[in-house]
Amino acid sequence: MKRIFSGVQPTGFLHLGNYLGAVRQFVALQHDYDCIYCVVDLHAITVWQDPAELRAATRQVAAAYLAAGVDPQRCIIFNQSQVPAHAELAWIFNCVTRLGWLNRMTQFKEKAGKHREQASSGLYVYPNLMAADILAYKATHVPVGEDQKQHLELTRDVASKFNFDYGVEFFPVVEPLILSAAARVMSLRDGAKKMSKSDPSDASRLNMTDGPDEIAQKIRRAKTDSEMLPGPGVLDAQGALPEETRKARPEAYNLLGIYAALSDKSWAEVLGEFEGQPFSHFKQVLTDLAVAVLGPIGEEMQRMTGDPGYVDGILKTGAEKADALATPVVREAQDIVGLLRP
Ligand code: TYM
Repeated sequence: MKRIFSGVQPTGFLHLGNYLGAVRQFVALQHDYDCIYCVVDLHAITVWQDPAELRAATRQVAAAYLAAGVDPQRCIIFNQSQVPAHAELAWIFNCVTRLGWLNRMTQFKEKAGKHREQASSGLYVYPNLMAADILAYKATHVPVGEDQKQHLELTRDVASKFNFDYGVEFFPVVEPLILSAAARVMSLRDGAKKMSKSDPSDASRLNMTDGPDEIAQKIRRAKTDSEMLPGPGVLDAQGALPEETRKARPEAYNLLGIYAALSDKSWAEVLGEFEGQPFSHFKQVLTDLAVAVLGPIGEEMQRMTGDPGYVDGILKTGAEKADALATPVVREAQDIVGLLRP
C-alpha cells in the first residue's frame, strides 16, 4: 500500500489555499492509503514564534485536519516535535545535502528576503527537515500545493544521494501529489501573489475560521477587472486553462478556479455557467458556496479549540504511533551511516 505523508506549519491562520491545496486532499486520500498527517511545529520555529501562540496554532492545525474530515481512526495525526526521529534524520540529511542545492531554494530567498544574514540557520536547512519528515516513514506520495514542488525535488535528491553514497536502496524516491484544481490559490487582493498566512492584509485570504459575514465581505471586495466573465472558448483542446490566458486576467481566473475547486466542477463547466456575466452575480454564487463549504469546518474548528483536551489526546496517540514507525527506520539509517549503537 502506498504511504502518504504531509504536513502543515502551525503559523498564523489556515486559509483557503491550505484547504484546497492540501487538507482537502488529505481527506480524500485517507480511504485508499496509509496516511500520516503532521503538524510541523519544528518547521514553524525557523522564524520567530510566540510560544503561547505556537501552542495554540499547533492545536488549531490539528483541529483543521479533524474538522475537515481526517479520521484519526484511519490516519496518524501528530505534531512533529514529539517524534525525535525527524530531527535525528534531519541531521544526517544536513550532511548529505549540498550547499548548492539549498542555495537554489526559492522559498528561502522569499522568506529571508533582504535580511539574509539575519535569517536563522534553521530556515536555510528547512528542506532537509522536510525530507526527513517524509523519508522517516519511507513515504512514497506527498499531497501538497504547487509551492512545495521544489522542496519535494530536493527530497528526491537527498534520497538518491544517500542511497548512492552508501550503496543501498534504502530510501524511496518520492512522488509529489499536486492534485487540486486549486493547487495555487492566489491572494484576493492581488492575483500575482499567492494566498498566504504571512500576508499582512487579512482581506487577501479566506481563513478557514471566517464566518459568513467575513467571507461575504472579502469576496465582495476581492479584486476583479472591468470585463465580463470569459467562456469555455479560452480553454485549450484538453480543457485546460493556458498559462498566458490566466496571466492576462489573474484575479478573474483565480476566483473562477476557486469556484471550480469548491464545487468539484471542471473549467469547462464553470466557464459555461458564467460566460458573459458580470462579476456581481458570480461573486454572490461564490460566496454562498464558500460559506456552505467553509462554514461547518470553521465552526467545528472553533468548537475543538474550546476543548484542547480532545485535540491533545489525538496528538498524543498519533505521536506514539508515528514514533513506532519512524524510529526503526532512522535507527537503520544510522546503522547504514556507521553510527555505533553499543
Ligand atoms: P505550509 O504550511 O506553507 O502549507 C501547507 C500546505 O498548503 C499548501 N498551500 C497552498 N496551496 C494552494 N494555494 C496556496 N495559496 C497555498 N498556500 C499553501 C502548501 O503547498 C502545503 O501543501 N513546507 C511545508 C510543510 C511541510 C511538509 C512536510 C509538507 C513540512 N514537512 C512534509 C509535506 C511533507 C509548508 O510550509 O507548508
